[in-house]
Amino acid sequence: MLVDTHCHVYSEYYDNIEEVIKRSRDAGVGMMVVNGVDRKSNEEILRLVKEYDIVYGALGIQPESVETATEEDFDFIEKHIGDDKIVAIGEIGLDYHYDIDREKQKEVFKRQLEIAKKYNKPVIVHSRDCIQETYDILKLSNVKGIMHCYSGSVEMAREFVKIGFYLGIGGIVTFKNAVKLLDVIKDTSLEYIVLETDSPYLSPEPYRGKVNEPANVHVILQKICAIKGLDYMEASRVTTENVLRLFDK
Ligand code: NI
Repeated sequence: MLVDTHCHVYSEYYDNIEEVIKRSRDAGVGMMVVNGVDRKSNEEILRLVKEYDIVYGALGIQPESVETATEEDFDFIEKHIGDDKIVAIGEIGLDYHYDIDREKQKEVFKRQLEIAKKYNKPVIVHSRDCIQETYDILKLSNVKGIMHCYSGSVEMAREFVKIGFYLGIGGIVTFKNAVKLLDVIKDTSLEYIVLETDSPYLSPEPYRGKVNEPANVHVILQKICAIKGLDYMEASRVTTENVLRLFDK
């Protein structure tokens, strides 16, 4: 079985979720973690995990939503973080690519890390154009988790692994210009790698430009196996065990 640790399969992006789930299951996906970004998606995730056996959820407020987040939105996460099939807080983090109040981003990020720590849950972290700042905050937070769509250096990857983080690897690994990421994958033991699609975004080659789905997660694993010279079935087992260990399943 394969696990997609990061996707956004909800009605904002998909007209027929049932079909997406069916194709995922047919492609060998046994678990897909739908990540929330705001209150609306977090609420939908609670419904989805009840409806579909292979759907698990992460609840969170992502950087793009921090300016509109309310007290009730944090309360909602805290109230439901212990629910059945809610495995993490995510996606949360920092994004310096867009012009979003950075102090507010840090405040919201740290607040959700506190919730994770309080309830002993892992976090799924988004970090764009600010890997050092993200690392500095995580190092002090004493939580474990996944660096979603890891895009930093080899040296930084080693540091994240040391503080209890797995590297989330997705469709970018199949892109021609992913030279730096290939070095990271070569350098990182498979014991610290988990798979993700970030659906509906970042479709792997040869589906680039199309709407992505968790069913494509096998393409990413095939590419990782090619880079590291690994057997597909063995790599499937190891990456899935990594996720089950992190999520205590
Ligand atoms: Ni995402």
